[in-house]
Amino acid sequence: MHAVLLAETSEEYLCGSAETLLAGMVRLGRKCIPVGCVNGGCGVCKVAIVKGSVRKCGLMSRVHVSEEEESHGVLLACRATPMSEIELKVIGKMKKIIW
Ligand code: FES
Repeated sequence: MHAVLLAETSEEYLCGSAETLLAGMVRLGRKCIPVGCVNGGCGVCKVAIVKGSVRKCGLMSRVHVSEEEESHGVLLACRATPMSEIELKVIGKMKKIIW
């Protein structure tokens, strides 16, 4: 299990290295990252990794995450698993609705 910290709210949850950042949050009944399609297609779970390393799993829509963004640590939380402790910022479209 790896700790996942949300930089702006200081919320934290534990996520296994075999589950996505989004799945780990949902398993605990948390709502700190917006949840949409859970399939890499809608972009609402878009996050920026501030600290730590992740592994991509599955396809991410380039409509929502460009190659340049990805090179700067931006990805979809439903398409990445933690490899270490993580600190992230939510930057998806629904951020204002959730917060
Ligand atoms: S929930 Fe839709 S892209 Fe992650």
